[in-house]
Amino acid sequence: MRIPLSAPDITEADIEAVVSVLRTPRLSIGPKMEEFEKSIADLAGVPHGIAVSSGTAGLHLCLRALGIGDGDEVILPSFTFIAAGNAVLYERARPVFVDIEPRTLNIDPEKLERSITPKTRAIIVVHTFGHPADLDPIMAIARKHSLPVIEDACEAIGARYQGRPAGGMGDFGVFGFYPNKPITTGEGGMVVTRDSQMADTIRALRNQGRRESDGWLEHRLLGYNYRLSEMNCALGLEQAKRIDQILDRRETLAIQYSEELQSIPDVITPPINLKYGRLCWFVYVIRVDNRDAVMETLTEQGIGCARYFAPLHLQPLFAPYTNPRADLKITEHVASQTLALPFFNALTREQIHEVCCALRKT
Ligand SMILES: Cc1ncc(COP(=O)(O)O)c(C=O)c1O
Repeated sequence: MRIPLSAPDITEADIEAVVSVLRTPRLSIGPKMEEFEKSIADLAGVPHGIAVSSGTAGLHLCLRALGIGDGDEVILPSFTFIAAGNAVLYERARPVFVDIEPRTLNIDPEKLERSITPKTRAIIVVHTFGHPADLDPIMAIARKHSLPVIEDACEAIGARYQGRPAGGMGDFGVFGFYPNKPITTGEGGMVVTRDSQMADTIRALRNQGRRESDGWLEHRLLGYNYRLSEMNCALGLEQAKRIDQILDRRETLAIQYSEELQSIPDVITPPINLKYGRLCWFVYVIRVDNRDAVMETLTEQGIGCARYFAPLHLQPLFAPYTNPRADLKITEHVASQTLALPFFNALTREQIHEVCCALRKT
């Protein structure tokens, strides 16, 4: 693509940070992991961070630590990335899909409450496209029904809701650091929590079930190798130092897009000024009725763009769990319209202008 959809932003300092780890004997479970965990936990305003190999692994370990299992129900939006749905299936639980609000594209709190049954064991709230979900009513519902909340903040590092950081409001927060994210570790993720017992369990689960006090050949729990290497952590740590600068830059780009697109009446732009917080500009996703035709035309011109997301309840994988009576109309409608435009730190004003001109013409 002449103008790619996304591109990581790697500086010489990032490269040096990774290379300097390679000059040490400690390539896994070392000081960089501890520093990175602390920096992300601080960002989320909670005491514990547990680095893991991906956002998906983080979501899985939260459900595992909660003891979610056979026949339990976990509520989540259908309009999201496959990872949350997969994590529910890993534990043989049943995903219960709830519709979204049309403006924020986040789970609708009222519909969420109506979906709670005696079998519900947890709620996964996704901060979709970095837009913080309406956590106050959601937490009130969750507390009323004694349900834990996992914030899938993989797309929302640095987002704020009523002054509080995304990832730090629920019982757990999960971040993802895949290369399309505002800060990347190549592959990687982080679970954050206030709960020290849960943090210990998740730490053991990511490391083959070894508790901190156990030896290398002692395994109390059925664990996983979901560790994150020192090289990944060093990269994440270096990137995290620039998070404010990165988020400011991405906000500037989003504003430029929205200003240019204002004059195209067929394009619905994402919300810029939120009632209750600050977005993390992870992606810039517009909505258009004839999305697939628009996407094809832009792609032919070398402009990277993509559909975003495909509803989980329509995936063949989830067919056995789909409730035919569930009302997911907004999810289906929005998913037929969403189009992610090129969005990365080095995107220029000229490139944004070119994308917007191509869109206007299309
Ligand atoms: C909302 C959401 N949740 C979870 C994930 C999974 O993260 P990872 O790709 O690191 O497993 C992603 C990744 O893109 C995501 O966007």
